[in-house]
Amino acid sequence: MLSTEANPVETRLESLNSEKGKYWITTFGCQMNKADSERMAGVLENMGYKKGESEFNADIVIYNTCTIRDNAEQKVYSYLGRQAIRKRSLPNLKLVIAGCLAQQEGESLLRRVPELDLVMGPQHANRLEMLLNKVDTGQQVVATENHYILEDVTTARRESKICGWVNVIYGCNERCTYCVVPAVRGKEQSRTPESIRSEIETLSKKEFKEITLLGQNIDAYGRDLPGITKEGRRKNTLTDLLYFIHDVQGIERIRFATSHPRYFTSRLIKACAELPKICEHFHIPFQSGDDEVLQRMGRGYTISKYKRIINEIRDLIPNASITADVIVAFPGETDDQFQKTLAVVQEIGFDQLNTAAYSPRPNTPAALWVEQLPESVKVRRLQELNSLVETTARRLNERYKDQIEEVLAESLNPKDDSQLMGRTRTNRLTFFPKTRSDQKNYKPGDILKVKINEVRSFSLSGIPID
Ligand code: SAH
Ligand code: SF4
Ligand code: F3S
Repeated sequence: MLSTEANPVETRLESLNSEKGKYWITTFGCQMNKADSERMAGVLENMGYKKGESEFNADIVIYNTCTIRDNAEQKVYSYLGRQAIRKRSLPNLKLVIAGCLAQQEGESLLRRVPELDLVMGPQHANRLEMLLNKVDTGQQVVATENHYILEDVTTARRESKICGWVNVIYGCNERCTYCVVPAVRGKEQSRTPESIRSEIETLSKKEFKEITLLGQNIDAYGRDLPGITKEGRRKNTLTDLLYFIHDVQGIERIRFATSHPRYFTSRLIKACAELPKICEHFHIPFQSGDDEVLQRMGRGYTISKYKRIINEIRDLIPNASITADVIVAFPGETDDQFQKTLAVVQEIGFDQLNTAAYSPRPNTPAALWVEQLPESVKVRRLQELNSLVETTARRLNERYKDQIEEVLAESLNPKDDSQLMGRTRTNRLTFFPKTRSDQKNYKPGDILKVKINEVRSFSLSGIPID
């Protein structure tokens, strides 16, 4: 290493750093879960830990878990088993389970995996240092009590240097009858617009180009904040937030997720059409194409309301891409009802759809209903839906052929380092050569025009043009 005038403070910090050792975090869940991992990584780096090369050479291993479906849960136990064996020969290894499964199972995880040092729910991500200090006193620690989330988000160690996640509302107050999220993520808690804006300003100073505002039900943003306008409207809605943050210099693209059809407003669509930085992509889960199923899911909208929303978006923003989540084989779903889901997929034409077979979750109403469907029905319906999704997405993607798209370059293509990869404003993954024919080079962070010459179901390729 080239180092001449060692600053004594830095040298001391470095020796402290090397004493702490290496950390590893595996993230199993959604974008929120990933954002929590980035904040925990930030805390660990502040404490002096360095990122390790794998979970098998780290001194502290954190599994940040998901429990949305049973398969997500089972995966974690096999990972934990391998670390438990490792810990028998490495007693100083710190083993942490964080996230939604940790919240759901709490102390019982210590009985299942006695090698665990710390079990911590998602609301405790910012308290990691304090919790690890407690572990250092020789205790096994369980942190799953309801906790007001501290506003310290500035230390996140972000995976991307270009696109940043910004939490705007934690928790969920909905009661979808299949869903474990409200139980594990707690009550809604909105951050103030000022604090959100200041985080975005910090990102812009670090030359981030894109932000995604995050909430499990982002349309609920601000319900818990005070303030009513002269017209008797809530002062702090998602729409107001978009206007409030839109002019942060240097941030070129703004996204948000996840939208809930029950609360999605015309005012929001107008704002998205009007504000140039808001990307033309909407992720609005519809879950089922049948009104009776939607009602039993506790979703609070009909499929015709959902279609009205999509039509309104397409009227104002014709090239918008629409993606969604769907559940098949919800308890009692008849074949006719499932056909209605297929019909909605045909009719709307989604750019991408996250599909899943219903999975009964602890402490959710639908898990106790008698009309559970057999595995064979789940598998068959899921396969049928997935093949329809594939063909419709491919057909829709054809509209990009020979088009010129604005792409934000995010990183090298891991499979081909002569290429960069990025996304269109509509969130299509796009690959292109990093050097243009006139030898101009592009790098992550550049926004450029790409002429699309190859179209696949879920990605595009093209060449950079002037
Ligand atoms: N807050 C978002 C979704 C959060 S969970 C919303 O309201 O839409 C992400 C997706 O997982 C859900 O949209 C749903 O499609 C799926 N999901 C949630 N619980 C599930 C369960 N018990 N079985 C199968 N899929 C489930
Ligand atoms: Fe779960 Fe419904 Fe909340 Fe989404 S809105 S997180 S599906 S309870
Ligand atoms: Fe999973 Fe928790 Fe997200 S259950 S989907 S990680 S909110």
